[in-house]
Amino acid sequence: MRTPVILAIESSCDDTAAAVMAGGEILANVVATQQVHEQYGGVVPELASRAHQQHLIPVVQEALRRAKVAKSDLDAVAFTQGPGLLGSLLVGGMFAKTLALALNKPLIAVNHMRAHILAHFIRAPRPVFPFLCLTVSGGHTQLVIVRSALEMDVIGQTIDDAAGEAFDKTAKLLGLPYPGGPHLDKQARQGNPTRFPFPVGAMPGYDFSFSGLKTAVMYFLRQQTAQNPAFIQENLPDLCASIQHTIILTLLRQLTRAAEANGLTQIALAGGVAANSGLRAALTQLCAEKGWEVFIPDFEFCTDNAGMVAMTAHFQYEASDFADQLSSPDPRLKL
Ligand code: KG4
Ligand code: ZN
Repeated sequence: MRTPVILAIESSCDDTAAAVMAGGEILANVVATQQVHEQYGGVVPELASRAHQQHLIPVVQEALRRAKVAKSDLDAVAFTQGPGLLGSLLVGGMFAKTLALALNKPLIAVNHMRAHILAHFIRAPRPVFPFLCLTVSGGHTQLVIVRSALEMDVIGQTIDDAAGEAFDKTAKLLGLPYPGGPHLDKQARQGNPTRFPFPVGAMPGYDFSFSGLKTAVMYFLRQQTAQNPAFIQENLPDLCASIQHTIILTLLRQLTRAAEANGLTQIALAGGVAANSGLRAALTQLCAEKGWEVFIPDFEFCTDNAGMVAMTAHFQYEASDFADQLSSPDPRLKL
């Protein structure tokens, strides 16, 4: 087997995940998504920590079984150090430290946002450095110039809600189940994206703002349902398509400015919102028009997963970037 053989753990939010990578090749990628939060309409941190505690060992065992790797074959153990929920990070971090100590192998602390970006290196086609990455997830929205696997600069980010939150919060206003992003995406496919014009958050530089959209949608629905209580039901696809269109316009406007100003022609999309069909299509079309090359990872490596943590750990292993046993989780870890 190619080396190094790395076991990676991801537990930053509500997905418990483990992956095994050998010599940069992914051998297993296992994710257990927590269902418990659906009834609360959002992630409940205390319940997330408890669920990680229950799922983590079975998920690790399954990853090792699928990879046909024994614990004694491992060269390193990696974990997500942050950003994320403190209790959730503690469960994965503590497990990784204990296993590394027991096996007497190095420990690798991985930044979750770097991992979303480096997910592009798991499978071909892989971007070439430097490239521009738009990372859009439930917790973050960032424009990053990726100079190498270890050198990245955040040039723009959200000043309030993340793009995924904008999807989830507006979906909630429409009565869709949590997390609303995928449901909104599905409805939007049948709708007219220009039927209801919502405000595009205008920010200087390359930053983003989504809280105005949520407020605009809230007031609009309140006004319309006062006149017609069935307004949402009667117009659901058009409402979803119009909201999605606004989020996409907001994202792509800043991305275009950033790419042009920095002379970058390779554009990558990362994070859970990269699963959005409208965003994928609009970005693909934009890149075709501009003559840019576009990179969107497979769905399993867009949403939270440990494969991306393993890939990042592989680069860190090559650079001898190891953590010590005293390292602790950092919920606000910067890129
Ligand atoms: O990266 P991720 O799995 O977790 C975080 O680190 O946040 O992203 C989850 C986010 C959620 O907000 C979810 O609604 C959104 O990604 N999402 C989508 C779609 N699939 C997932 N948003 C819009 N359209 C989708 N198809
Ligand atoms: Zn994430």
